Amino acid sequence: MNRELTEIKDGRLFFDGCDLTQLAEGFGTPLYVYSQNVIKARAAELREAFLDGHPKNRVAYAAKAFCCTAMLKLAEKEGLCVDVVSGGELFTAIKAGFPAERIEFNGNNKTEDELKMAVGYGIGRIIVDSLQELDLLEKICRAACRKARVLLRITPGVKADSHDYIVTGKKDSKFGIPLDDDVILPYVKKALDSEWIDFLGLHYHVGSQLFDNSAHLAALDITLDLALKIFDSFGYAVEEINLGGGFGIQYTTEERKPYRYFLEPLMARVSDFCAAHGEFSPALVIEPGRSLVGEAGVQLYTVGSTKDIRGVRNYAAVDGGMWDNIRPALYGAKYDALLANRADEPATKTVTVCGKCCESGDILIRDIKLPAPKAGDVLAVFSTGAYGYSMASNYNRNTVPGVVFIKDGRAEWAVKPQTYEYITALDVIPDSLSEE
Ligand SMILES: Cc1ncc(COP(=O)(O)O)c(C=O)c1O
Repeated sequence: MNRELTEIKDGRLFFDGCDLTQLAEGFGTPLYVYSQNVIKARAAELREAFLDGHPKNRVAYAAKAFCCTAMLKLAEKEGLCVDVVSGGELFTAIKAGFPAERIEFNGNNKTEDELKMAVGYGIGRIIVDSLQELDLLEKICRAACRKARVLLRITPGVKADSHDYIVTGKKDSKFGIPLDDDVILPYVKKALDSEWIDFLGLHYHVGSQLFDNSAHLAALDITLDLALKIFDSFGYAVEEINLGGGFGIQYTTEERKPYRYFLEPLMARVSDFCAAHGEFSPALVIEPGRSLVGEAGVQLYTVGSTKDIRGVRNYAAVDGGMWDNIRPALYGAKYDALLANRADEPATKTVTVCGKCCESGDILIRDIKLPAPKAGDVLAVFSTGAYGYSMASNYNRNTVPGVVFIKDGRAEWAVKPQTYEYITALDVIPDSLSEE
């Protein structure tokens, strides 16, 4: 279990100086809690491993992992760029005060409105994901008389070792442009020739929650081969290569590898390439999401009813569930947890933690050892900072819990919890219903 910045005092679990039981009492549960210090430590590690001494390189925080104004403000203050994948994330980045040139726009099937918004703000990069998107973007740029700086996202055809739902670089993928010469090269030419597109380079992303560097290295080799082909065909040396994100974190027994483990060999490979081909000196960009925020997050729940089915299973139900963290139901994600108010008691009982949604699959943690949970206990689930809040829904018309940022013992709202008024605010009774 990741115990970074956690300690147990008088039987109570503390995180980044805050008593989690007290947070649960004061802010209510379910609750998303984020340690600013853990996020800042990851950003510092990234600066050291990738930016210091490499002034052209950039780190673009993948906002999809956890996006709210406070988080993007923190990323901005840490000197990062931001990678957005929707108009909503783009709007949040602008609201958080991100300078437009430090915003990069990824994603398949961006809508015309989203592209217009991106061109209108004059954001730093648009990572074009399909051939149609390039045409659409060019049309929008021409109409707006504004140039867009563009990378083309390729599908490197590499299968990374992770869950199928978070593997993106294999050939059969909805993301990116296929690598067949007669498909990609004409589009590179089109981008190079266009007076409205400033073609800068190539982008790939192989997948998420990776612990092995081989997929990244294989994808980089394929990208460098394509860069050579582009140079041979059009005399243009790409100025930028975006390596995506995907660096794994610890949920239960995994061991997070330092960023250097991934980045040093990738940077060395590019240096060797540049030494062999003097025309090239590309900037490198990465897009970490999960690894920046995942281990910074703890989710707090209050235990309600418990049920022991003799010889079968012991359930403990909490006041949240798949609407605030869909990952266990979606792809069998695993988590570790402690009872925050009884953190030093022996874990004597095997329990399955379930939520309160009307789905049998609404299981948050299967078969975890805990002190026998009782109603009112506070369950702290670790490493919940990535793709939990950002994938939350209003299933069963539950309200999305609030987010609290903590730092050195201080706790403040970063997102207030939704209310019933909020979730019904946009409901409309159609006239046709009232007329009957
Ligand atoms: C294009 C792209 N970049 C970056 C990321 C972030 O990946 P991670 O959160 O694993 O670092 C993703 C995740 O899906 C992605 O699709």
